[in-house]
Amino acid sequence: MLRTLRRTAIPAAGASAVGLWAAVTTQNDEWDAYFTPAPTTPKREKIVILGSGWAGLQALRKCAGPGKDVTVISPRPHFLYTPLLAGSSVGTVALKSACEPLRDLVDRAAAVAASATFLRAEVRDVDVDGRTVLAKTDDAAVDVSYDKLVIAVGAAPATFGIQGVKEHALFMKESNDAAKLHARVVGNLERAAALLAVDAEKFGDAADALLRFVVVGGGPTGVELASELADFRSSDVATRYGDGVASRVKIVLVEAMPRILAPFDASLAAVARDHLVSRGIEVRTGCLVTQLASPTRATFRPSTPRDATAEAKAAAAAAEASEDVGAVVWAAGIAARPVVARLCEKLGQATARGLEVDDRLRVKAAKGDAFGTVFALGDCALSGYAPTAQVAGQQGKYLGRAIRDGAAGADDALMAPFAYAHAGSLCCLGSGHAIAQLAAPRAPAFYAWRGLHAAGKDGDERAVVGGPAFVLWRSLYFSQLLSAKTCFSVSSDWLKTLTSGRDAGAVEPIQRRATDAGLS
Ligand code: FAD
Ligand code: NAI
Repeated sequence: MLRTLRRTAIPAAGASAVGLWAAVTTQNDEWDAYFTPAPTTPKREKIVILGSGWAGLQALRKCAGPGKDVTVISPRPHFLYTPLLAGSSVGTVALKSACEPLRDLVDRAAAVAASATFLRAEVRDVDVDGRTVLAKTDDAAVDVSYDKLVIAVGAAPATFGIQGVKEHALFMKESNDAAKLHARVVGNLERAAALLAVDAEKFGDAADALLRFVVVGGGPTGVELASELADFRSSDVATRYGDGVASRVKIVLVEAMPRILAPFDASLAAVARDHLVSRGIEVRTGCLVTQLASPTRATFRPSTPRDATAEAKAAAAAAEASEDVGAVVWAAGIAARPVVARLCEKLGQATARGLEVDDRLRVKAAKGDAFGTVFALGDCALSGYAPTAQVAGQQGKYLGRAIRDGAAGADDALMAPFAYAHAGSLCCLGSGHAIAQLAAPRAPAFYAWRGLHAAGKDGDERAVVGGPAFVLWRSLYFSQLLSAKTCFSVSSDWLKTLTSGRDAGAVEPIQRRATDAGLS
């Protein structure tokens, strides 16, 4: 009893306390929600925010104050809680638990701002000198003028121009990506189960191909998705479809670099790899996906460093091989959205990878009177920070507060530079495991903390692995949920998964053949 307590409850309680500490000190710096400072600019100001993701949402929450007319423009009428996206693709949480309706959040902002509205539209262009954005709703084009523009449109999946990826791959970026993957996985399970029921010997190879799921990209997105698929296979596929089907499900994680999880310390990446392998995931490092001939045919090749010899490159090309697969999920990194690339080009930026911003998140290339009126943050900005929710959220809060307090603008003296507080990085590995690489407080009171395994480039971060890191992952991300409603639905989803399994029901519409429907 005492041993179990020491082994599980104490580390879990410790990890939860650290999660709470990290959440309160670095992320939930929300005291201004209770003691909002008085506005310093009496005149009404039109604030336009592009995007309803981590950066845009936090900017909205913080910039809303007296005298502000806030408009959020986004094609997405909800905020997507991305850390839950991979889990929602296999039913660990319901997809709607990962989506917060934007209108609820805009209504909250409207209670403290002069006005706050949401326009469901995609922004196509920005005229920084004319202070106008050109947007397209589902049915019409619209010009929206602004005094301050917050560009927070995020990024798109990077395809690197690889043949067939755009057309044939599934992605893991938006809510409908998770829905599509769920439908594909469940659909393939049913098809494979039917084939095996008809004639396992004759259709064995076809069933195996349907059940081979390839995740391209061994970054945190790919690793978390592969882990969720492995959990789904071991607990839900085995229960619902039997071991005959479950044992044929193959999950392949493909990474071009020699190791997975580049943002993490090599020792933690090795722990993650060992865990994935122990869960039956095939981890192919040093392997590149070079083509998707169809949604179910992928070509692989050993990757070579840029400076590899001609012979090494020729050998890699000769080793290229294609496989039949059930689905390819592309999680190979991010690239600029077309609207951002267009604006970079229009502003004469040297690169179109993202909007270059200064230390106050002002778009550098917006010159003259436009300087200090256009800001970019989150994944669409080249701010020198990693493209993470943690950075995007903090940038959104920083800029929102500066706008609310009348400090945002061209005058350096009014606006302090953005300071990022890194809490750490976490990656969920499934089956109750995770890795965490945490920023270490230096105060002597944290001597026990300093006793943890050192990690990071300078050895000044601390590593937590396994069950305690998983508790940390769950408690930290739970503490960041936006409403009591999502806290309730996420916790009941997690409980349901624990007690009665994941949602493995067919969500795809039944495809009736024309003849079945009595049509010719
Ligand atoms: P987004 O959150 O992508 O939001 C962009 C918004 O802009 C969206 O609302 C979009 O609809 C809108 N938009 C797009 N085009 C236009 C347009 N033309 N006009 C107007 N609006 C537009 N980071 C972490 O720190 N921790 C994690 O655990 C984590 N997990 C992740 C899991 C997954 C599966 C993924 C994909 C990412 C994860 N990330 C995580 C990274 C994190 O989600 C991103 O860094 C973060 O979403 C960036 O925030 P953003 O506001 O810049 O962009
Ligand atoms: P990423 O850029 O971190 O990883 C993509 C990986 O794909 C790279 O390792 C790259 O080498 C590989 N790759 C590229 N092309 C390939 C090809 N053709 N074949 C095989 N491999 C290929 O992208 P990811 O994972 O989507 O993450 C994006 C951002 O979101 C990162 O900043 C990440 O830290 C953050 N994130 C954080 C999470 C967390 O904290 N738990 C979870 C998910 C994302």
